[in-house]
Amino acid sequence: MTTIDVVDLREHSADFLVDPYPFLHELRAGGPVHRVILPEFGETWVVVGYAAAKAALSHPGLTKDWRTATPRWRTWFAGDADAESPSFGKHMLMTDPPDHTRLRKLVAKAFTPQRIAALTSRIEEITDSLLDDFPADGHVDLVDALAFPLPISVICEVFGVDSLDRDKFREWTNKVVNPVGEDISTAARELGDYLNDLVESKRNRPTDDLFGALIGATDDAGGGLSASELRAMAFLLLGAGHETTLTLIANGVFALLSHPDQLAALRADYTLIDNAVEEILRYEGPIKNATWRFAGDPVEIAGVTIPGGGTEVLVALASGSHDPSRYPEPDNFDIRRDAGGHLAFGHGIHFCQGAALARLEGRIALRKLFERFPDIALDILPEKLAWRPGYLMRGFDRLPIRF
Ligand code: HEM
Repeated sequence: MTTIDVVDLREHSADFLVDPYPFLHELRAGGPVHRVILPEFGETWVVVGYAAAKAALSHPGLTKDWRTATPRWRTWFAGDADAESPSFGKHMLMTDPPDHTRLRKLVAKAFTPQRIAALTSRIEEITDSLLDDFPADGHVDLVDALAFPLPISVICEVFGVDSLDRDKFREWTNKVVNPVGEDISTAARELGDYLNDLVESKRNRPTDDLFGALIGATDDAGGGLSASELRAMAFLLLGAGHETTLTLIANGVFALLSHPDQLAALRADYTLIDNAVEEILRYEGPIKNATWRFAGDPVEIAGVTIPGGGTEVLVALASGSHDPSRYPEPDNFDIRRDAGGHLAFGHGIHFCQGAALARLEGRIALRKLFERFPDIALDILPEKLAWRPGYLMRGFDRLPIRF
């Protein structure tokens, strides 16, 4: 078995947060599989490079089943080594086939391409009204004014949740989705309780929305979603549905504003918008590393054996999407390049089920913003932007702009 040195990421933490790509290149140059020490978690395994990342994401030996994880991981994530699942329940990103297949099919039945395409005019309306509300003094935090409210409004409408306490929900999901080492058990429990109440009220009063469709959806065997599965599903769709899309919009605005030639090219030809959004996803994807996977038995990736026993494995999507063997000059932002095949939405059976919705929102938000404000600019020095800590998300909570 190849011996793998442990790379201590704590030494690089501040620089790594600001610009992880040089370090990810260095890691990839040393091979596709590494042991690293993460500041928030400690030692884990990480897979880098395009081919190895894809292989790991679709490797059946790397399970998503929470019960396989080591007690150390379960304690870290749930505050309880005996936890069967987190308090908000087991969702698709915590299950393997056949459970995963069943859950995914039920969502696919309710979350159809027609349902998503039909949202176009509503997303446009919400975007227009948010842009109308930009303050007259010409200074605004783009996250507060557009990148946060747009996706959360859309997903709440799709889900038929009009009473969501958005700030509270944002605070809980921020903590739970992107843990940075603090105790997340209180936030997870509060979120779990809140979702329980939501599911109960919806089950008692079925509605004509995605929630109603999920409550009514049955699989081929006539089975539907249990209350706890509905709660977990609500967590995944509401949480994944806003936090990531927020980051896509904010990262997209930042990338375009800091590359004036690319913004000029887009403004000269808005048919480039679809490609621009793909390039943003590749160049500065909202998710740095895919969600945790676990090796129950030893697993071989790109010739390296990862030991079993529940070993935690992260797949560095940001490294895959910046692999020069797949994307020439990968650290250049070029909205005309073919960014197809990037790993921002993952790969394999867990490929993002909301990708079409996220792309639609990203295209509408960016186009409308840049069309409306011809003189928009960053209102902060790029080096002063605070990149979010944590192993999962790549983005920031604030993006001051002027227009
Ligand atoms: C730009 C925005 C988004 C990005 C970058 C993104 C990224 C991802 C990634 C990387 C995964 C796979 C994680 C893994 O394999 O560990 C994933 C899964 C998932 N995403 Fe997204 N996502 C986005 C938006 C959305 C939206 C808007 C929704 C729903 C409304 C959504 C729902 C899901 C679901 C349900 C899964 C789990 C699929 C499964 O396990 O089969 N995502 N997403």
